[in-house]
Amino acid sequence: MIDPTLAEFARRIPKAELHVHIDGTLEPEMKLEIARRNGVPLAESTTEEIRASYVFHDLPTFLAVHYPNMAVLRTEQDYFDLCQGYLARAHAQGVRHVEIFFDPQLHTSRGVAFGTMIGGYRRAILSERERTGISAELIMCFLRDRGIDDALATWEQSEPYRDWMIGVGLDSDEKDHPPVEFVEVFSRARQAGLRVTVHCDIDQENTHEHIRQALVELQVDRIDHGTNVVEDAALLALARERGIGFTVCPLSNSFVTATMKADEIVALVREGIPVSISSDDPPYFGGYAGDNYAVLADRVGAQAADVAAWARSSFRAAWLPPDRREAYLADVDRFVREYPAISSVT
Ligand code: HPA
Ligand code: ZN
Repeated sequence: MIDPTLAEFARRIPKAELHVHIDGTLEPEMKLEIARRNGVPLAESTTEEIRASYVFHDLPTFLAVHYPNMAVLRTEQDYFDLCQGYLARAHAQGVRHVEIFFDPQLHTSRGVAFGTMIGGYRRAILSERERTGISAELIMCFLRDRGIDDALATWEQSEPYRDWMIGVGLDSDEKDHPPVEFVEVFSRARQAGLRVTVHCDIDQENTHEHIRQALVELQVDRIDHGTNVVEDAALLALARERGIGFTVCPLSNSFVTATMKADEIVALVREGIPVSISSDDPPYFGGYAGDNYAVLADRVGAQAADVAAWARSSFRAAWLPPDRREAYLADVDRFVREYPAISSVT
């Protein structure tokens, strides 16, 4: 078992979270509360019943549990509460900067206006920045299983809100939906000055070809998951050459595949590739960013110096201006220096 001092150090160390789906942060308590105030009927009446419904073993079965929960979200206040709740919990686990995925199609397809949804997120981001100092940016993801035409229509809808977004991404069920299908919308996003990232989920069919397409055809700045890259030396070399960061999610991995891919994550760090250890969809996978640091530290027998290297790496993978990146790296150093009793575990 992990030393409790090291676990707490891992939870609290300043870090950047770069892989979290705001839609996937709906805690059971909030689902019940929002359903009640919106008069949305639910099959479950307690948080225990909701948690008991969280049964899945791969990406499609996870998405089949997660997506129907979106039906409770309707008003700007709902989106504010969802995002505010996440930002408060993340901050309590050391997150100082977060780049948040949001999936507009999960809401616009149910008749929620784009502005209602993003307006709630934006208000929460400004309010929590004021309250705790957490910095948050938005990355708009396209649902790859809804195809390119729906992605292009979503891109058009997002036009009035471009200043509120730092980048675009690609998520949902990867089977039969390779990155190359989305070249057009990613090239428009790049021309508009946004950064681009793509999910290459764990152990998917044709995963190496999908990683190659993301790097070469879509010219991504980052890859989400993508730990299968370590199995292909040429791809790994290409990613390293391009300075591509990877966002990795140990707890999520252990639900949708057989392992948390700890060895692969450690190999990426050893290669000097920027890596952000992140939570993905925390209520479903049992932990926030700090919990993911702690569980990985436990699994690989990490020392405090390793955990500090992960935290530094997360800020290197973030889309931050150089001065802010340096300031966060200095925060990590200060935290390590001043952490009580950490010398006992270094
Ligand atoms: N992969 C694909 N789609 C998703 C994920 C993920 O990790 N989380 C929420 N939607
Ligand atoms: Zn994800």
